[in-house]
Amino acid sequence: MSRLADTLEDRAFHVFMRAADVLIDASYGVYTLAERRYAAGEVTATRFGDPATNMPTYYLRLMALRDALELTPQDAVTDLGCGCGRALAVFARQPLRYCRGIEFEAGAAGVARANAKRLRGRRAAIDVVTADAADYPFADETLVYLFNPFGPQTLRAVLANLRRSLEMKPRRLRLCYYHPKHRDVFKAAGWLRRTATLRGFKTHIEIYEAQ
Ligand SMILES: C[S@@+](CC[C@H](N)C(=O)[O-])C[C@H]1O[C@@H](n2cnc3c(N)ncnc32)[C@H](O)[C@@H]1O
Repeated sequence: MSRLADTLEDRAFHVFMRAADVLIDASYGVYTLAERRYAAGEVTATRFGDPATNMPTYYLRLMALRDALELTPQDAVTDLGCGCGRALAVFARQPLRYCRGIEFEAGAAGVARANAKRLRGRRAAIDVVTADAADYPFADETLVYLFNPFGPQTLRAVLANLRRSLEMKPRRLRLCYYHPKHRDVFKAAGWLRRTATLRGFKTHIEIYEAQ
């Protein structure tokens, strides 16, 4: 009986979160609900051929994260694997230097750009770069968001690029890793430490910073 109650509670939770996604998309004036399937050959289009899921983060989780981070107008956000741009929409509704999405899949990047134009209440500039995250050199962002977008090989390349970027432009940088499937890569990198774990909405998001 208690397993049945757990299953029902879990179902109800996801129905509630998806309903919130529909309502928030409508109130933002964007469309981020499409679950995109990769076309044949697309998965191998990246250097390491290791894209993971392409589901968006639930809006309520993103909003809780954004509020917990206490960003200021001096912050700039990059979403690695931005999909249709839902996280960009949430972050860009507060004043920031910029919000940038990196997405290898051209169709999703196009939708993210259209959503950026339509977003109601935007207070930060949004740009979307169609690129493999493994090749992105990083600029002067202070927050990088990842929702388990790819496997360990791309993640290793990303962390190496990030470290070079920090050496060239020292700054406080926070990495938010949601659904941290490859956290061992962060540990093995040797220059990052976990500074916080944000819990809520049946999940947790790990925050890392340079030691
Ligand atoms: C789980 S979705 C997250 C979408 C969005 N960040 C969010 O939280 O709503 C991961 C995205 O990463 C993209 N992706 C996977 N591998 C990538 C790579 N090597 N470079 C750029 N984007 C990648 C996928 O196409 C997908 O859109």
